[in-house]
Amino acid sequence: MLQIQENVSLKNFNTFGIDTSARYFVEIAHETELTELFADPQWQQTERLILGGGSNMLMVDDFDGLVVRMNIRGIEHRISHDDVYVEAGGGEVWNDLVNYCVAHEYAGVENLSLIPGSVGASPIQNIGAYGVELKDVFHSCRAFEIATGTFRNFSKEDCKFGYRESIFKAELKEQYIIVSVKFHLSLVASINTRYGAIEQELQNRGISNPTIKDVSQVVAHIRVSKLPDPSTIGNAGSFFKNPVISAEEFAVVQAKFPDVVNYPAADGGVKLAAGWLIEQCGWKGKTVGHTGTWKNQALVLVNHGGATGQEVYNFSSQIIDSVYTKFGVTLQREVNIIS
Ligand code: FAD
Ligand code: EPU
Repeated sequence: MLQIQENVSLKNFNTFGIDTSARYFVEIAHETELTELFADPQWQQTERLILGGGSNMLMVDDFDGLVVRMNIRGIEHRISHDDVYVEAGGGEVWNDLVNYCVAHEYAGVENLSLIPGSVGASPIQNIGAYGVELKDVFHSCRAFEIATGTFRNFSKEDCKFGYRESIFKAELKEQYIIVSVKFHLSLVASINTRYGAIEQELQNRGISNPTIKDVSQVVAHIRVSKLPDPSTIGNAGSFFKNPVISAEEFAVVQAKFPDVVNYPAADGGVKLAAGWLIEQCGWKGKTVGHTGTWKNQALVLVNHGGATGQEVYNFSSQIIDSVYTKFGVTLQREVNIIS
């Protein structure tokens, strides 16, 4: 039986630790509960927020609608020759899935170790880190269409994955709830250590032939050294995307700032390191009121305690303005703004 709670604090449901509340709140542990919930016209018509681990959102206001917290669990696998298909419930903790795969030596997700959040949210922004994106291991997902109450499978092509993008953030925004994700992994490890910091840390450890467990441990080590732990300091990871600009725009920036940190991007574009741009504007490690940027990674905005969502949002606008003034580049927020 579904339990709809009223006036629930969301403070422990968002990694920024912002103290807001939800008018209604329901936890979903089985997909049939979604059918039951949305068969009721009241909930079809109420504004909704689908919530996983709350690690990629900034709650600016109280949410005057229904928060649907995804808690569908379960991990299963099927092996066919060297291929492994792992399917996990949308409410599984992402890093539990990674640990499951690393422990079984199913290769593919080890570079994505220690990313917070849920399996169900992983396709939304095509999570990525240390040279791998979700799309590299994604097979398909199953999703519930709220308007029709039906389930549909999405293939990799259907999802239109891009850098921190998918169809679920674009034309199908807020229309589907992802109930499970299937991954295509391998029994044959193809180790990816191209991201500079991984090579460096493997060398420090004297490892020349890394296993997937080594890669997972090294990635976790690098992440802990750079990123604040949300259990002690509120944050949602990178607050902005790394901006991708055209080769012509890049030439203008580089002429003025020869050290600008950059990487080749799709379609001849150039990706700039937003953390570098923000640091150059003097924001790195700065505290402004209850908020600020992280001392080891300027791309991460933090809640030093007691920040409101509005305060963090206003601070992020200040950063956007100063990066634009200095570099002529517009940063876009990567974090979902809930207002
Ligand atoms: P939430 O924050 O709960 O939701 C995010 C969005 O997805 C919202 O729009 C929500 O409505 C929607 N959503 C959530 N679940 C579902 C569902 N089942 N169906 C449909 N919509 C849904 N991200 C990276 O890509 N790479 C990183 O390296 C990385 N590092 C991070 C480090 C830290 C310290 C933190 C705090 C965050 C980091 N992130 C990173 C961001 C975050 O971990 C990911 O975006 C993650 O996928 C969010 O999962 P979540 O369950 O917390 O999503
Ligand atoms: N840099 C600075 N100053 C800073 C931060 C970064 O100069 O304060 C420069 C450095 O030159 C550094 C480079 O930027 O070498 C890249 O920094 P880093 O390796 O930390 O990666 P990032 O581009 O800042 C991205 C993702 C992270 C992901 C890492 C590792 C985005 C928006 N962010 O950060 O994802 O973990 O790469 O792959 O693409 C997230 O999405 O929440 C997230 C943490």
